[in-house]
Amino acid sequence: PAKWVSWFPCRQVGQASMDKVESAKRAAAHRAVDNHVKDAYKVGIGSGSTVVYAVERLAQRVHEEKLKVVCVPTSFQARQLIVNNNLELSDLEITYELDVTIDGADEADKQLTLIKGGGGCQLQEKIVAAAAKTFVVIADYRKDSTVLGEQWKQGVPIEVIPMAYCPVKLKIEKELGGQAILRQAKAKAGPVVTDNGNFILDWVFDKIHDWEKVNQQIMMIPGVVETGFFVGMASVAYFGMQDGSVKER
Ligand code: 5RP
Repeated sequence: PAKWVSWFPCRQVGQASMDKVESAKRAAAHRAVDNHVKDAYKVGIGSGSTVVYAVERLAQRVHEEKLKVVCVPTSFQARQLIVNNNLELSDLEITYELDVTIDGADEADKQLTLIKGGGGCQLQEKIVAAAAKTFVVIADYRKDSTVLGEQWKQGVPIEVIPMAYCPVKLKIEKELGGQAILRQAKAKAGPVVTDNGNFILDWVFDKIHDWEKVNQQIMMIPGVVETGFFVGMASVAYFGMQDGSVKER
């Protein structure tokens, strides 16, 4: 029964820490929207669970302050968020220069080099981030790290053309070490297919590299469409902390 579940001590501890994570995501997202969105702005909308809070705040401000903003999504999820929150939807064909893009991250190091694509949206996320004057990262305290790989163990997502995933995997493992694992859908439903019809290899690296160089090296492999490394793109990151504060970097 529900009352047993909520009484169970482990669940209470787990629930309390999840509440902290969600509050941290919300605090970071709200801070970013408040600091970086102005009237008449063209805004890139990232993907993932933290962005949900950013869109929620954006919709609130649009309603309360009568702001006129236009939103460009980075995924089908982001598109639905924009539509469901009654925000104005556009795309890069119509709105190709953005004032700001706000997006989450799986990990950010001290230089704001990011790993993104935990949700498989890295290709469109990178395109929309690159179209913006300012790229703002929002995340909870678990994503804040000194060096990449410290927190995020699932690897760097690499989007590949489906027919190429085996040779790409082999090349990455031979040249760079580690393991490049084909991302599988839950319930043995086969490979995850991105919004662009591609597969994802999650590269679990076994040492710290020069990420800019490695990114270029991976991008040179035929069949690779994009990587989840975002090097030198982010202008600022907001991390929601455990104590309720927001850390800016
Ligand atoms: C999706 C992404 C997300 O921004 C990243 O996975 C962070 O997600 P969340 O806000 O749910 O922690 O890159 O491709």
